[in-house]
Amino acid sequence: MRTLVRSGRVVTAADEFVADVLVEGGRIAAVGVELGVDDATRVIDAEGCYVLPGGVDPHTHTDTPQLGTATCDDFTAASVAAACGGTTTQIDFALQEPGQSLHAAVETWHGKLADAPPVIDVGFHVSVTDLDHAGSPAELGELPGLGVTSFKLFMAYRGSIMVDDATLFRAMQVAARVGALVMVHAENGAAIDVLMRQALAEGRTAPRWHAATRPPATEGEAVNRAIQLAGLAGAPLYVVHVSCREALDPIARARRRGMAVWAETCPQYLLIDRSALDADGLEGAKYVFTPPPREQADRDALWQALATGLLDVVSTDHCPFRLADQKAMGSDDFSKIPNGAPGIEHRLALLHHFGVRGGRLAMSRLVDLLATRPARLFGLYPRKGTLAVGSDADLVVFDPEHRSTISAATQRTGSDYSLFEGIEVEGAPRTVMVRGQLVVEDGELVAEPGHGTFVRRARFGESLPIAAGVA
Ligand code: URP
Ligand code: ZN
Ligand code: ZN
Repeated sequence: MRTLVRSGRVVTAADEFVADVLVEGGRIAAVGVELGVDDATRVIDAEGCYVLPGGVDPHTHTDTPQLGTATCDDFTAASVAAACGGTTTQIDFALQEPGQSLHAAVETWHGKLADAPPVIDVGFHVSVTDLDHAGSPAELGELPGLGVTSFKLFMAYRGSIMVDDATLFRAMQVAARVGALVMVHAENGAAIDVLMRQALAEGRTAPRWHAATRPPATEGEAVNRAIQLAGLAGAPLYVVHVSCREALDPIARARRRGMAVWAETCPQYLLIDRSALDADGLEGAKYVFTPPPREQADRDALWQALATGLLDVVSTDHCPFRLADQKAMGSDDFSKIPNGAPGIEHRLALLHHFGVRGGRLAMSRLVDLLATRPARLFGLYPRKGTLAVGSDADLVVFDPEHRSTISAATQRTGSDYSLFEGIEVEGAPRTVMVRGQLVVEDGELVAEPGHGTFVRRARFGESLPIAAGVA
């Protein structure tokens, strides 16, 4: 079936112009002016709307164990929320459980995908928690051959998934050898562990102690350490969920030296203040995510870093828990509150509203941050992340004038709250296509679970070929 998306304002990371986009065989067949159609062509009128490459969210935690529970979205639920928000590819973390082989971790995630089929395309990173498991370093080197081309390591969460520097460095050496990108959750887990124990011993159990025991210096120190170790190993490095000036500083220094370092932030660090954790009762537990929300000066610095190119990507770190029964596990002890929050659905609307409408970002920069740059860094480009002839027809018709109010009552995630409750935003996805199939029409889901598929990503620095000979 041929589809013509007519007269929209096409935005890529490089350009913005009014054009038609012709979709055929799941790919973009042409981008041009007044493209002809026959009777069999479905026409989608995009006049007055933007036509954007589908979003790539490289940081999600789907059906992932934590603190004796698990994030409350499976791949069907997470992908439906993603699609309705204009994201057409998510990259999730296959988490190595204690004693588990890395291949088994990836297989476990394939099983989750098969059990709860997605409506968008899905890739996997691997989260390495143990390289001393028999054969692990060799196994790690094999994963890029399976399309898993990025390795995540946690420098925090002591006593569960945190790795020591030796493990981090060994993983970096493997990554340098096999062409993988190393991702780090950069916080000094040892110092945080001391601060948490001291706070609890003094009876400081409320949610705000989550932030007080994870001060910005713990993030800045770990970012700097990861950069230095990656430089030593010769590995490319990607710092996830940057939240503060202390973390931006070493990234800026590394960039000035021409080091292979990239970084992301997330909407919650751009929009939420540390004081949200002061709320009474369970309310404060909503904002227990890691790193914690920071100060206005940090948010200003993050917005500036997005505009100048110091930060490369806005991901969501979608890590949803229900307030009523999951966050409540820590109602009398902040260290027992599962860390994370829902967010996969509102990235594009929030960044358009506060970034573009707020005068902080150009539309093409928004596309770069949400689609093109993550596709490039994570081995999906040019098949995904742009609107080029031959690319997958993953696209969003985005109505910049549509007004809506974000609310848990209308969101699609299984979580029962939103970090952004009550915020009115301008702009919403109207139509979303994944490989040419309509997944969202007039803001509503129209695809069956199972349209989405696993994507094998290219090695770091390599491109994912697009089909030759598209009609
Ligand atoms: O609080 C968060 N971010 N939870 C998810 C795990 C992580 O650290 O990314
Ligand atoms: Zn993290
Ligand atoms: Zn995360």
